[in-house]
Amino acid sequence: MFLNIWTCSIICLLVAATIIGGVILLLLLLRVYIYLSTGVCKSKVSMKGKTVLITGCTSGIGRETARNLVKRGARLIMACRNVEAANKLKDELIKESDNQEIVVHKLDLSSLESVRDFVKQVNNEEKRLDVLIHNAGTAETFSKKISIDGIEMTMATNHYGPFLLTHLLIDLLKRSAPSRIVVVASSLYRLANLNLDNINPTMTFPAYLYYVSKYANIMFTLELARRLEGTGVTANCLHPGMIDSGIWRNVPAPLSWGLQVIVKSFFKTPEQGAQTSIQLAVSEHLKNTTGKYFSDCQESSLSSGVSDAAKCKKFWELSENIVKLQSTDPKI
Ligand SMILES: NC(=O)c1ccc[n+]([C@@H]2O[C@H](COP(=O)([O-])OP(=O)(O)OC[C@H]3O[C@@H](n4cnc5c(N)ncnc54)[C@H](OP(=O)(O)O)[C@@H]3O)[C@@H](O)[C@H]2O)c1
Repeated sequence: MFLNIWTCSIICLLVAATIIGGVILLLLLLRVYIYLSTGVCKSKVSMKGKTVLITGCTSGIGRETARNLVKRGARLIMACRNVEAANKLKDELIKESDNQEIVVHKLDLSSLESVRDFVKQVNNEEKRLDVLIHNAGTAETFSKKISIDGIEMTMATNHYGPFLLTHLLIDLLKRSAPSRIVVVASSLYRLANLNLDNINPTMTFPAYLYYVSKYANIMFTLELARRLEGTGVTANCLHPGMIDSGIWRNVPAPLSWGLQVIVKSFFKTPEQGAQTSIQLAVSEHLKNTTGKYFSDCQESSLSSGVSDAAKCKKFWELSENIVKLQSTDPKI
């Protein structure tokens, strides 16, 4: 009887150890897979003489994209909401690269007035614009905020602001052709749908508006690419991977505790997350590629819903009304 209890205990311990060991091995294999499957921009191309404008580069993916482009010699326009943080980063980048060609301008994408003020400065000061990177983004989990223009905050920041910004910069991009527009979307668009009867949604499930805004990013890029055909300006979008960045900052506790364990254990670094943006901004072999979606530095497929051309066109027209596009503004 005594021996049997011992035997049972040992068997139980062995089973538990095998399960724990198996889980640890699986997690390690997952980490190795994430590491090996991460796309890397291998292009060594110099960006000297080129001007790149990037939105929201005070943290995360944007910061690492900016760092890489400055090292390649690009003139960088940092379009940031937090000017103090942007100036700090500017000093850091100049020190690292010895590239003095960095300017900071205030841009709050959630405000249509801020977008217009920002573009006035750029159009007055800049002679050319070779690459426009729509990187800035925000995500809310539960809270619902409305922008100063009466637009739901996530859609205002992630879609409507960039939509107006693109219109107001398009002449400069066309004059600088061949030029590129890069839109940082997300594969999480697959969790959403965009209802054309409700393009300023407010009441919805947690984080759903973020997924909708990323759906909007892709529809915008596809329609933009169609409208820019023959102009020498390309437009592509991307999924950067799941990245350990500031985008998760609005997830409330206790949800955030579990999430942080996953983020720190399995998500990619911001530098890894920047690779596809950099690839689309610089790669010589992509200079004629337009209207595509990339992930891990490779072209990837989209759902049929998000690539519905008629829906993209209609969404574009509705967006023009929401951002109050004026007859004197450039039309795309
Ligand atoms: N992290 C991921 O796993 C992941 C996955 C898929 C896609 N993405 C996309 O990647 C892009 C970069 O995000 P991230 O992950 O690097 O997050 P992040 O670290 O939070 O960076 C977001 C940047 O956007 C700026 N921003 C936010 N609201 C703004 C506004 N109203 N006007 C101007 N700038 C604003 C932030 O500036 P402040 O310093 O002023 O807040 C910050 O610099 C986003 O478009 C995001 O949707 C991220």
